[in-house]
Amino acid sequence: MKKGDRPIGVFDSGLGGLTVLAALRRALPRENFIYFGDTARVPYGTKSPEAVRQFSGEITAWLVSKGIKTLVVACNTASSVALDAVRAAARGVEVTGVIEPGASAFAASGGRKVLVIGTAATVSSRAYGRALRRAVPGALVTERACPLFVPLVEEGWSAPARGRRAAAVTRLAAEEYLSRYRGKGYDSLILGCTHYPLLKGIIARAVGGKINIIDSAEAAALEVRRTLARAGLLRPSGSGRAEFFVSDAPRRFAALASALVGIKPRRVGVKRF
Ligand code: DGL
Repeated sequence: MKKGDRPIGVFDSGLGGLTVLAALRRALPRENFIYFGDTARVPYGTKSPEAVRQFSGEITAWLVSKGIKTLVVACNTASSVALDAVRAAARGVEVTGVIEPGASAFAASGGRKVLVIGTAATVSSRAYGRALRRAVPGALVTERACPLFVPLVEEGWSAPARGRRAAAVTRLAAEEYLSRYRGKGYDSLILGCTHYPLLKGIIARAVGGKINIIDSAEAAALEVRRTLARAGLLRPSGSGRAEFFVSDAPRRFAALASALVGIKPRRVGVKRF
């Protein structure tokens, strides 16, 4: 197999990382992908950094054994607490997380005061805060955990198709988490969790005003394109394919992938650790 034809590895705690895969496929339509969702051990957002580091290291070693040419850590929680473990297990394969690209997008936008929302583990790690202050010295950063958003998305309660009352519950949760930041001079908000792009409209309404919403998934996809171009590893032609693996419940994964992100995997393999 030619170097450029090797797949890009993408992993997440479950299906949320499909928002990152979707962004990657838009930015890199010729590339082949191999996606792993750790559905047996999801959520990562409530777990200890040690556990997330162990899981992420195991997944990385397996993806590297599949011959990937680069690795994307789609999960914000794993990107926050486990990037060192991932790099150690990646044996020289380039690794891109979602935190640094999100911070660079904030810097490029000229923002100064930013609200970051994510899982409890992402927020307690303060990884976004550090990256954002590195990217924009003197930036004012507030980090806020919104733990109910992940189950609400997986329940399908972000989609208007599930009815007004379901969406109203999600709007209420968003109000509860975010309305206190309205009118407080924030110029940017970072969607620091794989699931949150699916709630973008509801989140934007809850914070109100003209806040620039930064999707770390989009930023990471552009960063991966730059990394591959620099290394001469872009796939020059053809249309890319994606393979899917999970650690449990492949049918549920396929059904939710289609319902939530519009990705319809032809086959979902199972890899247990
Ligand atoms: N993928 C996780 C993240 O982006 C959200 C789901 C979880 O808690 O595992 O942080």
